[in-house]
Amino acid sequence: MLLQVLGTAAGGGIPQWNCACPGCSGARAHPRWRRRHASLAVRAGEGHWYLVNATPDIGDQIEARPGLHPGPGLRQTPVAGLVLTDAELDHTLGIARLREADGLQVLATSPVRRALRDRLQLGAVLGPYTSVTWRELPRRGAESLDGGTSTVQISGIPVSGKRPRYAADAPDDDAWVVALRLYDSVSGASAVYAPALAAWPDRLQQAAAEADLVIVDGTFWDDEEPRRAGISSRTATGMGHLPIDGPGGTAELLAPLAARCLYTHLNNTNPLVDPAAPQHKRLARLGIEVAHDGMEIEL
Ligand code: MLT
Ligand code: MN
Ligand code: ZN
Repeated sequence: MLLQVLGTAAGGGIPQWNCACPGCSGARAHPRWRRRHASLAVRAGEGHWYLVNATPDIGDQIEARPGLHPGPGLRQTPVAGLVLTDAELDHTLGIARLREADGLQVLATSPVRRALRDRLQLGAVLGPYTSVTWRELPRRGAESLDGGTSTVQISGIPVSGKRPRYAADAPDDDAWVVALRLYDSVSGASAVYAPALAAWPDRLQQAAAEADLVIVDGTFWDDEEPRRAGISSRTATGMGHLPIDGPGGTAELLAPLAARCLYTHLNNTNPLVDPAAPQHKRLARLGIEVAHDGMEIEL
């Protein structure tokens, strides 16, 4: 199984256009602090990739990876489809950017699909440009990533009922946010990708304990960060993101795992945005890494 990390920032990116916080200012001064919105490319087969989440940066993310470039046919693309972990705008706005496609295949759970179709009106808006084929992301069992011969199997593990703000009154469902489990039936390797974690359910723990690779939500370093930084009156947990540090934080859940563990979806207020921050050493001592844009991981 081959994975490419296309981006590692939370909504807004790093730098965020209207933000002068130390992380965003640092990224303007030091290009290596920059991070595009969190996204992952998964190879389903030779020259055949699925992108996990469609970020506002999706066009630049495709351009940055030669393996995702079109050709040899004039409009032949190796991007075979999209997989969505949730319906948040930072993970879905890029769908409209792919409207030049001959067709778009989108795997998502039913609440996510309904939010995009009924609230964002994506089906109606994109209809005159391209045809969107929705595939249900299995919550029980797994299916081939491309719905055919790919040896990569995918399943969505329900994580939480956290809805995007534009769908705050939509019906409750435990699969508004899912963690993805990717399993390669040839190599036997598995990966868990969960860029949005409001909770750590038992099924996620089970998948993480069996996995070779775990990439999870590293939005905030600690629970007070959003309030301390002055960007919100809510804590990290209140915003639907388990913090990294502290009691109930994800670092203590990741540290005992046998898997290679990495954080993604870093908010621009997270001290980890600075490559020299001491928090990187704290994580390294626990055997945990911070993902960076452009990482390629073979399992
Ligand atoms: C989140 O991760 O909580 C959302 O993407 C926030 C947002 O973009 O409004
Ligand atoms: Mn987000
Ligand atoms: Zn900022």
